[in-house]
Amino acid sequence: MDQQRFSEVDDYLTETLRLEDDHLRHAAQQAQAAGLPPIAVTPAQGKLLQLIAQIHGARRILELGVLGGYSTIFLARALPPDGLLISLELQESYAQTARASIAAAGLSDRVEVRVGPALEGMQALQAEGVEPFDLTFIDADKPATPEYFEHALALSRPGALIIADNVVRRGELADPDTADAGAQGMRRFHELLAAEPRVSATTIQTVGAKGYDGFTLALVTG
Ligand code: DHB
Ligand code: MG
Repeated sequence: MDQQRFSEVDDYLTETLRLEDDHLRHAAQQAQAAGLPPIAVTPAQGKLLQLIAQIHGARRILELGVLGGYSTIFLARALPPDGLLISLELQESYAQTARASIAAAGLSDRVEVRVGPALEGMQALQAEGVEPFDLTFIDADKPATPEYFEHALALSRPGALIIADNVVRRGELADPDTADAGAQGMRRFHELLAAEPRVSATTIQTVGAKGYDGFTLALVTG
């Protein structure tokens, strides 16, 4: 088993299950044309996010890291017409690319992209006293994932889901001496999860076009 095979299977699934439509392909093309890093979720992962949000009946979604809006489009498609997705993005230029693709997908009425550091954005949401979120997707700078999780918890209603991307980091998660700051952050994140009585969580390892990684699914129980 190698990376080529993992990518072939992702290509097979994308084609056979028709995981992308023209709007998603457009968003991916625009992100590439704008020179954004090629780190968006795969079509299969994006569809999983959409399905989880649909199963959950999410009406309010928070996303950290909009990038080109690719995962945003999947998640926003799970929302009812009066639903809301707020996505926080550090890079103004990424936000502009994302907003255009989200608009082209007909989802501007339920998506708001806010520019700035995610922690500040989350603090602002808390200060605004926004309605709590039903689902948070953490997919921003990896070392700060533990802090993002703590704020996501504060912004969640009981029964909400918190999903974090890129938590396995090619297996570095299991190395206590890892030099990878992202993996160190993910180890702290898992320690927080273990110590937090208000969540019930698991992590699933994944392979695919983006290599060997994984995601965490956490249910806010209280
Ligand atoms: C990186 C970030 C991601 O969100 C991802 O899914 C893969 C890689 C990165 O920063 O390298
Ligand atoms: Mg990611």
